Amino acid sequence: MTQSKNKGEKNREAEIEAASNQMMEQQGQKETPGEAGTSKERVVGVDIGTSKIVFSEKKNGKIDFSSHRNAFISVDYSKFTERILNQNQIKYHRIDNSLIVFGDGAEIFANMLNTETRRPMRQGLLNPKESYSVEIIKKILNELIESSGNSDSKLYFSIPDPPKGSETDIIYHETVLKRHLTEKGYTSKSINEGLAVIFSELEDESFTGMGISAGGGMCNVCLAYLSVPLVSFSINKGGDYIDDATASVTGTINTRVRGIKENGFDLQKKPSSDIEDALHIYYDDLIMSLVRSLKESIVQTSTTLKLDRPIPIVLSGGTAKVRGFKERFEHFLNMEEIPLDFSKIRIAEDPLNATAKGALIAAMHEN
Ligand SMILES: Nc1ncnc2c1ncn2[C@@H]1O[C@H](COP(=O)(O)OP(=O)(O)OP(=O)(O)O)[C@@H](O)[C@H]1O
Ligand SMILES: [Mg+2]
Repeated sequence: MTQSKNKGEKNREAEIEAASNQMMEQQGQKETPGEAGTSKERVVGVDIGTSKIVFSEKKNGKIDFSSHRNAFISVDYSKFTERILNQNQIKYHRIDNSLIVFGDGAEIFANMLNTETRRPMRQGLLNPKESYSVEIIKKILNELIESSGNSDSKLYFSIPDPPKGSETDIIYHETVLKRHLTEKGYTSKSINEGLAVIFSELEDESFTGMGISAGGGMCNVCLAYLSVPLVSFSINKGGDYIDDATASVTGTINTRVRGIKENGFDLQKKPSSDIEDALHIYYDDLIMSLVRSLKESIVQTSTTLKLDRPIPIVLSGGTAKVRGFKERFEHFLNMEEIPLDFSKIRIAEDPLNATAKGALIAAMHEN
C-alpha cells in the first residue's frame, strides 16, 4: 500500500529530481572507468586531497587528469530517490537507511538541497568524525581508477606530512588507502605531497628546491636536494580553515565564502566587503603560520643543510590560486631571517593538478 505523501516530502522529492537532472546536464558525457581489468602495464599518479582526488596518467605523450570532489551527501533512503538516481545513472552507495551521493555529484546535490557537503577526509587524513569515510573514499577512488590486470602496473599516491599530534593517524590513513589501491591491481607507493610538487615543477632544477602545496585541509612543505627530501612539515591550516573562520566572523555560510574566494578575489586589492576583509585577515594568518613553520624547520636543520645553490620555491594547491598569494608569501618571507638562500618564487603551472602530476612523474622515474 502506498502512503499519501505530505507537502514537505513532495517538495523534497521535487528538489531531488531537479538536482539529479542538473547533475546529469553538468556531467554530460563524462567518462568514468569501468571495473574491468586491463592487461596493459600502467603507471598512474593519484593525489588524495582533502577537497579533491585527482588521477593522472600519460596518454599519447600528454598527461591526462581526471578528478572528483572528495565529498558526499547523504539523503534518507526512499524508493523514489533511489529510482531517480538510477534513472539518471548517478553514482550512489546505500548504507543502512541512507543513500550516499559522492564525488562531484555531491556538490551539485548539496547546492540544490541548500546544504553543505560532508567530507571523508579532514586536514589531510581520513576523517574520524565520519563513520563511513573509508567506504566512501574507496567508492570515489573506484570512479577514477580502473583496476589493473597487470602486476607490473605502478601507482603513486600522495600523503601529507603528518600534522603535529596526528603522527599515528597517518599510519592508518596510508595503510587503508594502500591496501585498497593494491587490491585494484597496482604496486602502490605513497609519496609526500610537498615532494610530489617538486617532482611536478622542478625537473629542470634536478628536483632541487622547495615544494609547497597549500590545499583545502592543510599546507604541505618539502625541501629536497636532487630529489632527496631534507626537510618536510605540514601545518593544519588550508582553504577549509579560511572558509570556516571567515564564515564564522561574518555570520555567513561556507559556500558563499568559497564562491567569493574562488571567483576573482584578489589579495592585492583593498577589501570591498566584510567577507573580503575577513578573507584578507585569514589568508595573511595562514601565510604567516606557513612562513613561521618554514623558518622553524629550516633553523632546526640548518647545521646539516649545506646547499651549494640558491633554492627555488614553487607554490601550488588550490589555496595558492588566489591572486596575490605569491606576493603576500614573499612579503612575510622577507620579514623573517631564514638561514637559506632562496632564488625564484613562483606559482605552479597548474596548481590543482601539480600533486597528481608529481606523483605520476615519481612513479615513472622508478625503475
Ligand atoms: N580559483 C581558486 N581561487 C581560490 N581558492 C581556490 C580556487 N580553486 C580552489 N580553491 C581552494 O583550494 C582549496 C582546495 O585545494 P586543493 O584541491 O589543492 O586541496 P586538496 O589537495 O584537496 O587538499 P589537501 O592537500 O589540503 O589535503 C579549497 O579550499 C578551494 O576553495
Ligand atoms: Mg593537496
